[in-house]
Formats: sequence, structure tokens, C-alpha cells
Amino acid sequence: MATKVTITQAFHFSAAHRLHTEQLSLEVNRQIFGKCNNLHGHGHNYTVFVTVCEDGASPLLRGELNRLVTERIVRRFDHQHLNYDPAFQDVVTTGENLAKLIWGLLVKEIPDRRLQKIGVLETRDNYFEYVGD
Ligand code: NI
Repeated sequence: MATKVTITQAFHFSAAHRLHTEQLSLEVNRQIFGKCNNLHGHGHNYTVFVTVCEDGASPLLRGELNRLVTERIVRRFDHQHLNYDPAFQDVVTTGENLAKLIWGLLVKEIPDRRLQKIGVLETRDNYFEYVGD
């Protein structure tokens, strides 16, 4: 296998969320999610890392990736409440699920299976990664 060089670009957005599922009682939600289940939610300054592999023969232009992620991800989530996003109607807005959702929104837009990894930094101490199935 040829040496694979990857490049990672960081993107930022701020959003609110509440860890909660209608499938569980209020009490169980509180037990599982603790203060992250607070009724009115709370916010994070998210950093999303998008890793793609580079191909010297047909480089994915940096500006192209920047435009794509800004349009599809940053504009969609910045200054929003994630629980109201259509994709999160039956899915808890955890960092894991956000990473998976962002992967799903980008994987078909980035040609030649070049998307390698989505990283979501939610807080100073919590980082989530998704590399596809
Ligand atoms: Ni949170």
C-alpha cells in the first residue's frame, strides 16, 4: 500500500444541546445524563476536525473542503440548538452521535472515499472520533 498522507482541517461552531431521550423516563434520563439533562440545555464551543487523505494526482483543494464543511456543517449547526435539528429527532445529541452525523453529511460529498475521520472536540476533556463503518 502506498504511503498515505492525510490532512486535517479544524472548524468551529457554537451550539446548545440537551442529553435526553423520550424513550426513557425523566428520572432515568436524569440518572444517565446528570446535569447534561437539564431542561433548558447548555452550550459548547465545538471544534470539528475533518481528516481527508491527500492524493498528489488530484489534490482535494483546501478551499473546496473549507467551503463544503462551512456550508454543510458550520452553517447548519452554528448558534443552533442541536436537539431541534431534524437529524436529532430520534437520536441523543452526544458527541459520538454528532461525529457520526457529520461523517454522514460529508462522506458522499468528498470524492474518492477520501474522508478518513471526523473528530469532535466538545469540551476541553471530551473528544470523539468516527472513522466510518
Ligand atoms: Ni453537553
